[in-house]
Amino acid sequence: MPAILGSPPAFPDGPPPWPPPNENVAAAVQVALASGRWGQYHGPCVATLETQLTATFGVPHAITCASGTLAVEAALRSVGVAAGDEVILAAYEYESNFLTLHALGAKPVLVDVSPGNWNLDPAQLATAIGPKTKAILVSHLHSGLVPMNAVLAVADAHGIAVVEDAAQCPGATIGPRQCGSFGSVGTLSFGGSKLLSAGRGGALLFRESRAYQRAKLWLNRGVQPWAPLSELQATVVLPQLANLDADTQRRLASVQFLRERPVPGLQVFDNGSAVQTPAFYKAGFRYDPAAFGLPRELFCRAMRAEGIAFDVGFKALHLGRSPSRFRAVGDLAEATRASENCVKLHHPVLLHPPDVLERVARTIENVYRNAVRIRAAFPPS
Ligand SMILES: Cc1ncc(COP(=O)(O)O)c(C=O)c1O
Repeated sequence: MPAILGSPPAFPDGPPPWPPPNENVAAAVQVALASGRWGQYHGPCVATLETQLTATFGVPHAITCASGTLAVEAALRSVGVAAGDEVILAAYEYESNFLTLHALGAKPVLVDVSPGNWNLDPAQLATAIGPKTKAILVSHLHSGLVPMNAVLAVADAHGIAVVEDAAQCPGATIGPRQCGSFGSVGTLSFGGSKLLSAGRGGALLFRESRAYQRAKLWLNRGVQPWAPLSELQATVVLPQLANLDADTQRRLASVQFLRERPVPGLQVFDNGSAVQTPAFYKAGFRYDPAAFGLPRELFCRAMRAEGIAFDVGFKALHLGRSPSRFRAVGDLAEATRASENCVKLHHPVLLHPPDVLERVARTIENVYRNAVRIRAAFPPS
């Protein structure tokens, strides 16, 4: 019987903690403490991290900063987005990116998402471009990847900048290139739940030196950065960056394991091309309540009762918001579907061994088999 009906949960201790215990991080912190450099304004780890980010992402310049949200704002400013401009983004997006555009006085132009992975559909871009379009803001969300070569083809043809938000996908690749390195500017987050975590923090990745210079100017007051990453934060990110490839492969294998245990109504995002390697900040699923037999919220509640961290996805930006706050391109029907049906599995469990993944798969199957009983026990109010 599932835990939501009274049985003991599959994972009595709940979802695994994040960040997990990491002896390399602990050792790096010890060195920083012992040397006293953890308190320095211009310590060596920040500079080393910025250098390693350029090498990892294959870009000429990187700047670390206080958060992913700030990185997105700095990136938009660095490509010249200002009041009165239009910026195109997916209607299913991280909400604060939309709000950052408002903070800059720019108008969000919302386009629909692809049916396979509920991420920005590049086929929608050409019709969205107008005389005021300054940039395209692309996020890769819930392990979905946006085909960046298709985005760049449209952007380059119109002379429009691309800001690529890779907060959710460090380690993901499209062909030989890292996600985050396609845009004129890419951004990362080192927030507490992120794959590379410093508790807080972010970074900008630049392909172009003009945007890099503009961001540097904006992020500094005189010689002083006003929202930097600290030396201690950089200290803890470095060992995680060194292990990013290995962790990405482990998470990928875990999701492949779950993919091979299909359950009706729960389909892992499909990126549609073998040359794309996603990274799993969350594993996104297309949920079909009719096929699974449970309303989406009740599915997540049942999984949470088992100690498995499934949550509903984002609310699409065009829903419940005044149309004066954006310009919509088309009916955004797929973004509405994403808003109503997306579920996502939080990533920490994906670094666990096969027996844990086996328990996750069995628990999902058990909830599926008992959907009728769960529905009967929790009728709609
Ligand atoms: C796609 C995306 N962009 C930006 C951010 C913001 O990052 P931060 O929390 O570091 O400000 C997040 C955070 O979840 C995110 O998911």
